[in-house]
Amino acid sequence: MAKISLTGIKPTGTPHLGNYLGSIQPALELTKDYLSVYFIADWHALTTVKDGKELQPLIHKLTATWLACGLDPAKTVFFQQSRVPEVAELNWYLACFSAKGLLNRAHGYKAAVDANKAAGEDLDAGINMGLYTYPVLMAADILLFGSDVVPVGQDQKQHVEIARDIAESVNHQLGNVFNVPQPLIRDEVKTIPGLDGRKMSKSYDNVIPFLAPPAEMKKAVMRIVTDSKRPEEPKDPDTDNVFNIFKHFAEPTRVAERRKQYAAGGVGYGEMKEELLAVLETRFGAARKHYDELLKDTEGLDRILTEGAERARQLAGNRMEKLRKKLGLR
Ligand code: TRP
Repeated sequence: MAKISLTGIKPTGTPHLGNYLGSIQPALELTKDYLSVYFIADWHALTTVKDGKELQPLIHKLTATWLACGLDPAKTVFFQQSRVPEVAELNWYLACFSAKGLLNRAHGYKAAVDANKAAGEDLDAGINMGLYTYPVLMAADILLFGSDVVPVGQDQKQHVEIARDIAESVNHQLGNVFNVPQPLIRDEVKTIPGLDGRKMSKSYDNVIPFLAPPAEMKKAVMRIVTDSKRPEEPKDPDTDNVFNIFKHFAEPTRVAERRKQYAAGGVGYGEMKEELLAVLETRFGAARKHYDELLKDTEGLDRILTEGAERARQLAGNRMEKLRKKLGLR
């Protein structure tokens, strides 16, 4: 049987270059050799987004993003998480096998506790159980389909490791139920900086969208933080945020050329930003037009997600029934 590649993205903001490099692009490459299972993680979004009027368009935008980037729903099992009830059921079973201590150490939860500590607040302030058990729901996504590899950005590595731990704990107690998956993380994109030089992330509000209207792209790129070196001064390309984004999207020969010019002096940040914009337009211009078209037919998008969910449920097959039996529920 074909090996399975699985990943999800939660619809909590406009998809950005970090999502593209970290998950979308590698995931799409894997479709050649794997049975691919990709989804919109809308249940995960609920830990932060609680308003349907806000969430619904975010789901459509993320769906259109995947499709505009080249996902073929005929060749990929592509669906909306909340349309697969087995995920929620498995979430509960897995919760009963998950050590609380394991979840205490999860980065997302720990960061929220640390922020409360730093602010002198009650340690639990503003933390919901959805955030706390987020990694369990993610393990349910991954384990339900027998995933072999999970292409994700570096920030999700710990979550996949937690899914492995949970799978092993179930297997240890019930016999072989779950495949133990591997995270797939691209070394070269571990470091894509956001506008301010920190990791590109929605939670830092430092992202560059990639299918947004040109004016919006421009606004973001112009906000990239640089030092105050004048064009003629030599610069270190590896510490410059513009270059560190540019290098992922420009032609390799052009990247090499620019790298030399940085070291020698003679290239200004303004000029680099313009070139970055042009490179992004070349790379994503056609996809943006497709994206705009797709968003005009949100019913069509819903149909794709619904049909995908039916196929996902088939793919999950009798794994749940087996587990229910082992647990004495049947
Ligand atoms: N946590 C991921 C994100 O922040 C989304 C996600 C949910 C996911 N379930 C997953 C990723 C399963 C990989 C596998 O976008």
